[in-house]
Amino acid sequence: MKPATYFLETFGCQMNVLDSQLVAARLREMGLRRVDSPREADVVLFNTCSVRQHAEDKVLSRLGGLRALKRRRPETIIGVIGCMAERVRHELFAQVPHLDLLCGPGELHHLEALLVEVSERHEQLAALASSQSRRTTAAERGQADDPLEVLDSSRHAVPGESVLQSYVRVQRGCDKFCTYCVVPFVRGPERSRPPANIVAEVRSLVAQGCREITLLGQTVNSYVYQDGERTVRFAELLEQVHAIDGLDRIRFVTSFPADWDDSIFRVLRDCPRVCPYLHLPAQSGSDRVLKAMKRGYTVAEYLRIVDTARRYVPDIALAGDFIVGFPGETEEDFQATVELVRRIEYKSIFVFKYSPRPGTSAERAREDDVPAETKSRRNNELLAVQSVISLRQKRALIGRTVEVLVEGYSKAARRLQDSDADTGVDAGDGLPDGCAHDRAASGITASPRQLAGRTPHDSIAVFDGEPAHIGAIVNVRIESVSPLTLFGRIEGVRSPARVSIR
Ligand code: SAH
Ligand code: SF4
Ligand code: F3S
Repeated sequence: MKPATYFLETFGCQMNVLDSQLVAARLREMGLRRVDSPREADVVLFNTCSVRQHAEDKVLSRLGGLRALKRRRPETIIGVIGCMAERVRHELFAQVPHLDLLCGPGELHHLEALLVEVSERHEQLAALASSQSRRTTAAERGQADDPLEVLDSSRHAVPGESVLQSYVRVQRGCDKFCTYCVVPFVRGPERSRPPANIVAEVRSLVAQGCREITLLGQTVNSYVYQDGERTVRFAELLEQVHAIDGLDRIRFVTSFPADWDDSIFRVLRDCPRVCPYLHLPAQSGSDRVLKAMKRGYTVAEYLRIVDTARRYVPDIALAGDFIVGFPGETEEDFQATVELVRRIEYKSIFVFKYSPRPGTSAERAREDDVPAETKSRRNNELLAVQSVISLRQKRALIGRTVEVLVEGYSKAARRLQDSDADTGVDAGDGLPDGCAHDRAASGITASPRQLAGRTPHDSIAVFDGEPAHIGAIVNVRIESVSPLTLFGRIEGVRSPARVSIR
């Protein structure tokens, strides 16, 4: 039987969000219609992440929950795509006998053919990377014909999905091999896409109504492409994208401190549509730990980049990632991380408890010797330190007017609209779950007219407005704040919506 509907759930980073959009566009071309629940779907796909064990456990639990469905409707195709397919490979078929299909993140251009084959042959089938050579340089690799390029370059929007803010990949894979990290194993070697293809993709998205582009790469500032005689590096790519008419905002993630090049700061300062925002993970504030992680920089070198950033762009918003409980991390190492977080005054940080990943050098060579309770305590302590800083920074904005690109109704407003409830709930926004305390702390209740959007500094702002504001850039006067959210009132429209977004 030919499948007619699909369900797709995405885990992991922005790369996976983008891959899922590309996959959804392909499935739609195949004539499949998207549905909201695996129960209604002929094809159930999970686009997965392997960066921590917790991410894999969630997928295993989802798959476990589908056993009865597969028994009832054996023709349902269940597939795991993305990083976990690549990491666990065929072993996943043994672990989950009702799984039909595996497709690694570097093989997504084969997904269509794989689906047809599985539906005809009723066998467990996989498309996974063979060996990917790392002997050439990243710039040379960008030259090679890349079959995946077809997937990104032929991109077009799926009806019903907004392109207002879009991700565009500039680089695939990673060559850094930080000792804890699985990404280079599952995403393959680092390759930069041709600048002409990136610019063409951004142009086409802008023509469809996109106002904000986020350029994606695991180490985005390491971007390098050999264009004939010329070497195009990240600063130049940013300038080329900045020159595209009609684009309002450009962001880029994630930057890698060891490859930093100060000419990127010149672009940040001189190109007004490049947002004053830098995601520059430090991972630790201890040189001993950074060395064991093989990050390739010291705390002093990291601080130099941050100081230079602030010299060029004084109000730049900084975001960082930290791992707590790396093998051998002492209390002194951890306090050095706390000290770094206090000193930098990030806008926000992401804190992760170390999770040993099979096959990485840290997992092979070092015992996971920091107890789970210690990891949790350090995790909470670091977040608490940051929360005080975030609140202080946001309080300084009270009474000021910020520019917001309106993304849509806030989460709380959507909940109210869905339930038709007449009682207010705590104001919500595009925040991940677990931020409920932030809303509660604000003491503000939402209305069904509450909209949400982001400032150029990547702060979330919520305020009441009209449907016509969705997709517009508006001025919002800040009236109150919580550590993660700005609450305010619309003062005027700077630039109206270009396409109608609901
Ligand atoms: N390329 C990006 C990060 C990709 S993974 C960079 O280098 O910054 C996103 C984050 O997950 C990392 O920054 C790191 O903080 C965290 N992470 C990666 N591997 C991890 C592991 N084994 N355990 C815990 N956190 C991990
Ligand atoms: Fe992982 Fe390091 Fe590559 Fe980031 S730079 S993806 S942490 S190996
Ligand atoms: Fe996870 Fe793969 Fe991204 S491992 S963090 S989804 S590159």
